[in-house]
Amino acid sequence: MNPTSAAGPADPSENLFDLLRAYRPRLNFTVSPNDQMVLPQEALDADTLPETDWRNQYFWVAEEILRLVVKAMILGEKTTLRRILDLPCGHGRATRAFRAAFPDADITVCDIDRDGVDFCAREFAARPVYGHPDPDRIELGDETFDLIYCGSLLTHLDADRFRRFVWMMSRHLAKDGLLVFTTHGRWCITFHRTVSAFIAPEPWQVIEDGFRREGFGYHDYAESPGYGVSLSTLGWVQQVVDADPSLTTLAAMEKALGNFQDAFVCQKWPIDNLYGPAHPKVRPMVYRGEVEMNGPPPATGGPRMVSGLAPELQKTAEPVAEGPPPTVETAAPSPPEPQRSWAGRLRRRLWRRGGSSGA
Ligand SMILES: C[S@@+](CC[C@H](N)C(=O)[O-])C[C@H]1O[C@@H](n2cnc3c(N)ncnc32)[C@H](O)[C@@H]1O
Repeated sequence: MNPTSAAGPADPSENLFDLLRAYRPRLNFTVSPNDQMVLPQEALDADTLPETDWRNQYFWVAEEILRLVVKAMILGEKTTLRRILDLPCGHGRATRAFRAAFPDADITVCDIDRDGVDFCAREFAARPVYGHPDPDRIELGDETFDLIYCGSLLTHLDADRFRRFVWMMSRHLAKDGLLVFTTHGRWCITFHRTVSAFIAPEPWQVIEDGFRREGFGYHDYAESPGYGVSLSTLGWVQQVVDADPSLTTLAAMEKALGNFQDAFVCQKWPIDNLYGPAHPKVRPMVYRGEVEMNGPPPATGGPRMVSGLAPELQKTAEPVAEGPPPTVETAAPSPPEPQRSWAGRLRRRLWRRGGSSGA
């Protein structure tokens, strides 16, 4: 019905689940020698990761990011993403997946690593924006996006900048746009102890203490003031979102990125709006079968009413019996029922009603 060629899905609205297959033939495999997301061989040799080859590990994470975005699209009932912001882009681990999955999208990349921004702009036909440690000084103008993906940035920021980055990104979301960001959650405590330490033991203790006391802990890396490791509970992060009433949280998911970082999916939709962003009156058609259920969308692209179930799913009401009201017969009192087990009583009741009890 929907031919999915190497060029990608013919109609993304009916092929959301096919995105992960469709993007692969278009993936750009050029990796920058400066890409900090390429794991060193000793990490791969440490026997704690399933992959032993850096390429497998790197492209697996790229695909995990895309899976997360597809989940967000389903939650937000969005079928297309025209304008995407990848912040921070690094050297394009996520950007390459977005470019392959959404070939016609306008993609903007932002990072304080200018080499990374330049590389992404060149390789993935993206618009470059150089980052700034202060989120309010990042020059995005008044541009808005259908998706802002913020992977592994808030995981490195203190509470103040964590909050200000979330609120800044919210300001750059288009109406019903999606904000997907990742955080270090409670699994990371186990990860730190058993898989790979994020930081030295003393600063880690500060981070873990803050996490247990207030739901948020942070410490700088030794060599980089203002950049370190954060650890946050879902509840603490939700309070950051709560402070911005223009956002509606669609999901708070533990270990949602690569079985490692937690992820939040928020939509630019006022929490106090009468309608939700995915209200039937305004949502696009996301699921296969919706067209059959509800008819084609209006040509105008205007609001669409969904009026109940498709005809074949509507149960026809039992005809009402006509005639005089039933008379109440007075009969001799019936003898007391013999004692029965509950199963026996149930069977008997069903049998009396004319249901098939199998008895
Ligand atoms: C762990 S990497 C993640 C990169 C990319 N999101 C990925 O998953 O491959 C973190 C990135 O954040 C960038 N970064 C740090 N502070 C930033 C800021 N204030 N604005 C933009 N980028 C920043 C760093 O340069 C680095 O590339």
